[in-house]
Amino acid sequence: IHVDWDAVTAEKGGFEHFMLKEIHEQPKAYRDTMRGRIDESGKKVVLPELKLTKEQIKGISKIQIIACGTAYHAGLVGRQAIESLVRIPVETDVASEYRYRSPIVTPDTLVIVVSQSGETADTLAALREAQSHGAHVLAITNVVGSSIARDADDVIATLAGPEIAVASTKAYTSQLIAFYLLSLYLAEVRGTQTQDEVARIIAAMQALPEQLENMLAKPDAIKAYAEQISKHEHLFFIGRGLDYAVVQEGSLKLKEISYIHSEAYAAGELKHGTLALIEEGIPVIALATQDAVLEKTVSNIKEVSARGADIMAITHEEHVVSLLKSVNQAFAIPKTLPLLTPALSVVPLQLLSYYASLARGNDVDKPRNLAKSVTVE
Ligand code: G6P
Repeated sequence: IHVDWDAVTAEKGGFEHFMLKEIHEQPKAYRDTMRGRIDESGKKVVLPELKLTKEQIKGISKIQIIACGTAYHAGLVGRQAIESLVRIPVETDVASEYRYRSPIVTPDTLVIVVSQSGETADTLAALREAQSHGAHVLAITNVVGSSIARDADDVIATLAGPEIAVASTKAYTSQLIAFYLLSLYLAEVRGTQTQDEVARIIAAMQALPEQLENMLAKPDAIKAYAEQISKHEHLFFIGRGLDYAVVQEGSLKLKEISYIHSEAYAAGELKHGTLALIEEGIPVIALATQDAVLEKTVSNIKEVSARGADIMAITHEEHVVSLLKSVNQAFAIPKTLPLLTPALSVVPLQLLSYYASLARGNDVDKPRNLAKSVTVE
């Protein structure tokens, strides 16, 4: 395990920790990652850096997304973006498992590896495995001179700037932006979305940085809730669809830096076992931002509420009043398109982990046992 702490001398920019600074840098990271990749008309994504030709794109039969940790969680959102906008089947794998399941990779498979550092050994090994089967490998990475960037056939750089805190925040959300851009580009080449639909998504993406700034200006409610959960040893996250992808990242973040044990569950799967663990007073964090499955999520919320869980919901303003009938507290996040919501909904979960870690007196930026970049398999 290699830890690169050279950058530790970098400025914290007035923030108490790098993690908080990096959380606040997300609006800028979004703008920088989008800059130059949306044409002036606002109706088209342009990715001039791609070597992948339009002919190759038209011939893609499936996509495999491979990554570790937080980058893997970005891939879970990426999968839904690609499948819904481009209608190409997508598999997601953690890199340390990929090679050992005899994956079916052909020259018309597009493999997307995601890595903040570009140095993760498992991800690099998966990249080489995929290339050995003739697949075209596209890397989404934050470090353009990294091993993964060098070995990949194509690179989409996230422009989040250096990320110092071990717990990844702005790199994750920039990876989401990269996936949205890539999905829109592939959709255009394959003709799976109308120009108006693409323009609508682009406009919503361009509004994200300001929406995020507004959220970051009001951390007090989350901070108070974090202090409350910091006294617990176990808690649960639930969500469906994209909310499930996001709570997996929220749960990882909380484990990494607060050392509170948490599990992220697909809300509908709870009753198949995990419900046995719900008892009086256990905190359950429900992400309920996806209107298409909201009613179903509410039924799952009621299942845990009936067992005495202490539920906090993150939702949109318009649902707060009705949700408060079944939950103990609710926070509203700004509204964007359902597909783009992860770029906003993960932020309260990042802040929750940060403040819970702080309340427990942990070393927020350098959690025990973890390294920023893991260069062993
Ligand atoms: C380490 C870090 C995680 C990170 C993972 C993948 O375990 O502690 O925060 O998500 O590696 O890193 P990468 O640089 O490939 O995104």
